[in-house]
Formats: sequence, structure tokens, C-alpha cells
Amino acid sequence: MDFRVADLGLAEFGRKEIRLAEHEMPGLMAMREQYGDSKPLSGAKIAGSLHMTIQTAVLIETLVALGAEVRWASCNIFSTQDHAAAAIVVGDGTPEDPQGVPVFAWKGETLEEYWWCTEQILAWPNGELANMILDDGGDATLLVHKGVEYSKGGEVPEPGPDDPEELQVILSVLKASIAAGRNWTEVANAIKGVTEETTTGVHRLYDMAKAESLLFPAINVNDSVTKSKFDNKYGCRHSMIDGLNRATDVLIGGKVAVVCGYGDVGKGCAESLRGQGARVIITEVDPICALQAAMDGYQVTTLEEALPIADIYVTATGCFNVITADQMSRMKHQAIVSNIGHFDNEIDMAGLAKIPGVERINIKPQVDEWTFEAGTDNAHSIIVLSEGRLMNLGNATGHPSFVMSNSFTNQVLAQIELFTKTEQYPVGVYVLPKHLDEAVARLHLDALGVKLTTLTDKQADYLGVPVEGPFKPDHYRY
Ligand code: NAI
Repeated sequence: MDFRVADLGLAEFGRKEIRLAEHEMPGLMAMREQYGDSKPLSGAKIAGSLHMTIQTAVLIETLVALGAEVRWASCNIFSTQDHAAAAIVVGDGTPEDPQGVPVFAWKGETLEEYWWCTEQILAWPNGELANMILDDGGDATLLVHKGVEYSKGGEVPEPGPDDPEELQVILSVLKASIAAGRNWTEVANAIKGVTEETTTGVHRLYDMAKAESLLFPAINVNDSVTKSKFDNKYGCRHSMIDGLNRATDVLIGGKVAVVCGYGDVGKGCAESLRGQGARVIITEVDPICALQAAMDGYQVTTLEEALPIADIYVTATGCFNVITADQMSRMKHQAIVSNIGHFDNEIDMAGLAKIPGVERINIKPQVDEWTFEAGTDNAHSIIVLSEGRLMNLGNATGHPSFVMSNSFTNQVLAQIELFTKTEQYPVGVYVLPKHLDEAVARLHLDALGVKLTTLTDKQADYLGVPVEGPFKPDHYRY
């Protein structure tokens, strides 16, 4: 078996944590119970690109229990939990004789390593090809699409000097793969579909569908209610503050914290900061979300206005250049700057490095102090978490198992849907039907001691819904 992880010796620790996580992931365990015998994913060859954490380990083993073969990479250079990766590779074997799933992921990859790992999940042994993608942020999908685009033209373009570093890396990975004989059109043709985990990846899919460049059908898992209204909100409410504490241990109570973006992620972040006693300021571009923030009791203003007073910054927009380098240079001394949105371009890290006289002092892994105007009366610094990448996964361990059980149960259902009913999904982007969304929620009620009220027949008639649901029209927003 080919794989690359940090240390197989961590497998036993990983296995113990996987065992504990299984108890906290009732949705995934119910999938194993329900589909373990019928194995609807037999024949599925899933290329997975999603943070290689303990929770993802339970997802991977669920996909395998349903009959799938899997290869896995992380979707962020810092988000792998090395013990989880090791346990998945070892499986039922030993570190000397691993018997599990090929994983290509370790905490602290370089960009070159990251894209190499992404290519490995699409490079199946013996010339076989993946037939499903499970993506988070869309990088595996992007690699296939770029591969096809460049193979068609016959040649991968040379990166320009102004191209972002990441594009330069992607181009060199593609160039090497095409030179080694990889036919990306064949790779794309073999793929029945992709299930996408997050807001940013979903944006990319809709853009491609609109431009008619999408090559295979996609299920938008993010917009299952039991994903975005839970993982993005309650997950970030938990793991954002965890990242902040593990990185800095600064007292949050009494501080001024800025959350950029008041979507699902921003709402969770703001709530946890307020819970710690911070005075929270929101920045927004959308009047509806700005009004929501105001009515939730937050001050809503611009980043410029917050600069003189804010101690902590978290970007949660999925947009780019939300905090500029110039703004970072004008922040309070030792302000903490972090991003929880999917990509590292929300904070202008490239611009920061170019400020004259700026210096980076590494404090510990994924925590850097950046100093400005050293040696002058105005010498000051800021603290940047995870080099501007997802801080809840870089500085902490991401979302807890219970909330990920909701997200990942949607992922499993979406994989089954696309793999077994391929002909019902022409190329396009779909969401799972509401009855499945409600089913995912139902699987998580018992564990929390929730007792549901049942509609009487007459009440159901009055509302015009079936007694057993779905209870809401598709346009309902929760
Ligand atoms: P969303 O679309 O619900 O919210 C983003 C909000 O940011 C919107 O309300 C938008 O109006 C606002 N916004 C956009 N540009 C802005 C700007 N320049 N200044 C201020 N506000 C701006 O998206 P969601 O679901 O909250 O996701 C946000 C990001 O977080 C995405 O990149 C998503 O992929 C990522 N994400 C990260 C997770 C994690 O664990 N770190 C979990 C879930 C999502």
C-alpha cells in the first residue's frame, strides 16, 4: 500500500481517539448499521480531500464499511492530526504491516507537498481511476479541471512572475503529471460526481456550472441545513475559541474582538467571543447580515474604525483581502490576527511580508509575531495565527465530533446518492432532499435527550405537511 504520513507509531493513540469519537458520531454509526450489509458504495473509488482529523477518520472508516475504496489527503497544509492519519493507514494491521487506507497527509506540509498529496488521491494503483471525489474547498476538483483544461491545449502554461505562488505550484504538479503520461481527460471522465463540504468550494462549483465548465455532477453538502447551520455555526463557536486559546492563551474577557463576516461562521465566532466577555464588533458588506448582527446586539462598523481599539481579529467571509497589510501595520501592539475562512487570502499575508522593515518571529508552530518599525519609537507587533490559514484547524483540532457527525452523515448520503443514482444527476450542482436533511437531524436527537412532539393527523392536515415530515418548504431558512 502506498501512503505518506508523519509517523505510523502514532496509530495506537489515533485508534483510541477514534474509538471515543465513534460514540460522539451517532449519525455515522447509524449509516454503518443501516448500510453495512447492503454496501451501497461497493465499487466506489473515492478520492477524499478533507482535513485529516479524528472525525474524518470515522468518516473514512464509514465509507469503507459501506463498501468503498478510499484514498485520502488533507485540504489544508496545517489541519492534519498525525495520529488520525496514522491510525487510518494502519487499520487492522500494525505499523510494520499497515492494512488500512492510503492517506497522504501530515501536519505542516509545504505547498508543493500539499499539491503532491492531492494528486496522489487521484493516482490509483494499477492504472485504476477514482470514480468519486469527496472535496472540502474544491482543491481536488480544481486539480482535475485544470488538468483537463491544460491537457486540451496540449501544454501547461509557464507561470507568470505575478501569479500567486499556489498557482505556480499547481502548474508544476500538472506539468510533471502530464509529462509522466497522465491523461486528465480520462481522470475526469471516470468521475461520477463530487460531494463538496464547504461554502467556498460550493461557490467554485456554482461558478463552474454557470460558466458551463463543470465536468461532472456535484452535491452541495454545505447547504444541507444540518451542515451549514450546525458545523459552520456551532462548530466554529467551539473551535474558533479553542484555536485562539491554544495559540495565545490571552484573556478574552474585556478585550475588543472584530469578526469580519456575519454569515454562519461569523455568527458562531461572535457568539463564543461574547460568551468569553469580549466586546465584539462585526464588519459586513451585506445589509441583511449587518442588520442581524446589530439586532443580536453587536456593534457593526468598518475595519478602519475598529483598528485603534481592537485586540483580536477573526476573518470569516470567504472573501479576499479583507484585512490588508497596511491595516495590519496600524493595529494595536500585539493585536491577534486570524482567519477561519477556507483560504489564506482573507488576510493579505503576501502584502504583510513585503512591508519594509517588517520582521517575522516564530513563537511556536502556527504562531508568528510580525514586528513593524523595530528600533523606532513606534516599534510594535501583531500576532498572526496559522499564517493566515484556518486557525481552528491549524491552532486547534477543528470541530468536535458531534457536530461533524451531522456534516459527515450528509457526506455519506450524498456519496451514496451520486454513486448509486448517477443517471438521475446530469452535470450540475444539487442539494440533498429535505427528508434526508431531517433524517440526519433525527439521528442526533437521542444522544442529546431530545423528545420530539408528534403532529396529530388533524394538525398535519392543518399545516399541510405529512405527520412524519418534511416539515418545511425548500425556501424556509431556519
Ligand atoms: P457565509 O456566506 O454564510 O458568510 C460570509 C459572510 O461574509 C457573508 O455574510 C458576507 O456578506 C460577508 N462578507 C463577504 N465579504 C466581506 C467583506 N469583505 N467584509 C465583511 N464581510 C464580508 O459563509 P460561511 O458559511 O459563514 O463561511 C465563511 C467561510 O468559512 C468560507 O470560506 C467557508 O468555506 C469557511 N468555513 C470554515 C470552517 C472552518 O471550520 N474553519 C467551517 C465552515 C466554513
